[in-house]
Amino acid sequence: MSILFDASCQCFHLSSQGMSYIIQMAAGRYPLHLYWGASVRHISDDLVTRLSIYTHDNFSLHETPLDRMPQEAPVFGCGDLREGMLHVRHASGTAALDLVFQKYEIRTGTCPKGGLPRAHGENSETLVLTLADVSSGIEVELTYTLWEDSPILARHVRITNNGTAPVTLERALSCCVDFEGSDYRLLTLSGAWARERHEDFRPLVQGNQGTSTVRGASSVQTSPFMALLSPDATEENGDVYAMALCYSGSFLASVDVDQDHNARAMIGIQPFDFSWALAPGASFDTPEAYLCYSHTGLSGMSHAFHTFVHHHINQGPFALAPRPLLINNWEATYFQFNEEKLLDLARTAKKVGIDLFVLDDGWFGHRDSDNSSLGDWYDDLRKLPHGLSGLSDRIHELGLLFGLWVEPEMISPDSDLYRAHPDWCIHAEDRMRIECRHQLVLDLTRQEVRDAIVASICGALARGKVDYVKWDMNRNINMVGSAALPPERMKEFHHRYILGLYDIVSRVTSAFPKVLFESCAGGGGRFDLGMACYMPQNWTSDDTDAWERCLIQHSTSYVFPPSMMGAHVSAVPNHQTGRITPLASRAAVAMGGTYGYELDLNRLTAEELSSIRSLNERVHAWQNTLLYGTYHRLLSPYARTRAAFMTVSEDRKQAVVTFMNALAEPNQKPKLLKLRGLDPDADYRDVDTGKVYGGDELMSYGIPLSVPQADFTSQQFFLTIC
Ligand code: GLA
Repeated sequence: MSILFDASCQCFHLSSQGMSYIIQMAAGRYPLHLYWGASVRHISDDLVTRLSIYTHDNFSLHETPLDRMPQEAPVFGCGDLREGMLHVRHASGTAALDLVFQKYEIRTGTCPKGGLPRAHGENSETLVLTLADVSSGIEVELTYTLWEDSPILARHVRITNNGTAPVTLERALSCCVDFEGSDYRLLTLSGAWARERHEDFRPLVQGNQGTSTVRGASSVQTSPFMALLSPDATEENGDVYAMALCYSGSFLASVDVDQDHNARAMIGIQPFDFSWALAPGASFDTPEAYLCYSHTGLSGMSHAFHTFVHHHINQGPFALAPRPLLINNWEATYFQFNEEKLLDLARTAKKVGIDLFVLDDGWFGHRDSDNSSLGDWYDDLRKLPHGLSGLSDRIHELGLLFGLWVEPEMISPDSDLYRAHPDWCIHAEDRMRIECRHQLVLDLTRQEVRDAIVASICGALARGKVDYVKWDMNRNINMVGSAALPPERMKEFHHRYILGLYDIVSRVTSAFPKVLFESCAGGGGRFDLGMACYMPQNWTSDDTDAWERCLIQHSTSYVFPPSMMGAHVSAVPNHQTGRITPLASRAAVAMGGTYGYELDLNRLTAEELSSIRSLNERVHAWQNTLLYGTYHRLLSPYARTRAAFMTVSEDRKQAVVTFMNALAEPNQKPKLLKLRGLDPDADYRDVDTGKVYGGDELMSYGIPLSVPQADFTSQQFFLTIC
């Protein structure tokens, strides 16, 4: 890892783990984007002359086509007429901003981001480029952080008003990369409830494209990530340039292809319905964006993201640690439970080797359905006569850990909290309060609301002596606005909500440092790197159907490692699709994430329970490889016929391979599955059959499949080095 300034060519050269990123100063005035890609040792004159028309000494705004320059911090309307990264409205109503280079600094370590989550870790270095608009006093710091162990570059922007008049930020994205050319395919992740993060590939065309949301959450429909793939890029080969945002709210990821067919890629806070008043002396921080370059296709990108999440995003004792195998009572009981029913489930769970019992929705207020009690985080003694505390004691006595579901950001109109504070929800005066799932959203921009949430949630977690928390969020925001904000600052609402969310999440998680937190949002509706800074697990989707999960987990794994993906075995017929799949297939797919169950164990046969006991022993023994090994997508389920993936332990001594059929084909001849990531010089034993294969053979010839001739069947191989 190094950050160097070469005065002879006026270039900053940032490099780490096979990646170089080069910025050139145009006549000491504008930082231009010179290069991002595979690492280069030095910058030759030929490379620099590409931008020489922009860097002559007589540089002047009037003569030089900023509109065609690749820039690090483009601003609309001051020479460049493309969409820019920043847009600032001055008190006069005009929006010109001529950001001129002032100074640079190379620091050891990362730098703070004003209340926002961010990547952490030793062995990092940061370049800060300071630019300023002399006439208004607006100062912009562009930060670039590199880590010794990663080809990922973190970018962030701090905007400070050093002038004497207030200004309004109307657009404050986290980064911009101007690519040479536009011969790329764009990968984004999109979907819906129960169909989260399905992959979308499309060619770039002139004009604007990308992905974004205005829902106030990263959402089930979108994901704050995009990648540009070179034309020849595949799963294993070719150049991939990805951007992912450390943010959980509305975002924009856009690619604008200009008149010269050059692509401008940007990511950051959604500018629609956003503005931020910046008084003299005030600063604004954008979320961090992570730029990942891979010359080994999508798998190289994923490996870089996964390692980065493990070492620099996840925090606390569960980062890189074993995770408890859990049972969640939601699909087993929904709201219809009492203490005895829960304990019956817990007893069976213990017998089959489960570690953690999670009590889901319905334990508080008088919540017998989803139409009441959110906000009333006190125990429903009708269902739990000994309270949370008594239930937790009994669960702990059984030798299980105890976990609890909460939805802290919400309020039901039928709740004591609502009756006491009807103005605490997000609403517009004199308009109907639009409910979703019979609930409203609390106004997290208000300090008193946040304090009340933290107090009541911490009270419940302490009372329940919990070891695990499922933090849910089941609706998006309508009637955007806050009674606590003056009209001219109302467009700050969405971002202030997210800052409020990070405030309560960081207060609650730091009050319970030994507790494992799993983020959830009506399934996987806030599956992003922002939440991952506080919660190492994330419920991937309410859709637990074994085949549907292959699609969801395949494309979720582009960015997020298995250790983040909550994956459970549920009942059949599946509650979301009605599909019947074998237990072995449901378990095999759930082993692609943090493993658990979401069904009534007491309705299973003795034979099924015995299989579950064996499965749990397997997961316990192989968990380190399953969660933290190198993940390879072998066969894409998007061809709709079959899926396969594998994880290989870091030392390449163990590997777990999973193959899954969709519809059985008649008259199939035996198939081979080529593996990846093994040691070619080592021999591996299949622990179930005792057969021994060479690592080279498995990767070049393949492992023979013998999947039963039926729909949704699967086969797993647990390989260990001989
Ligand atoms: C959401 C979650 C589910 C479950 C329910 C409870 O839909 O995604 O897993 O917790 O809420 O209401």
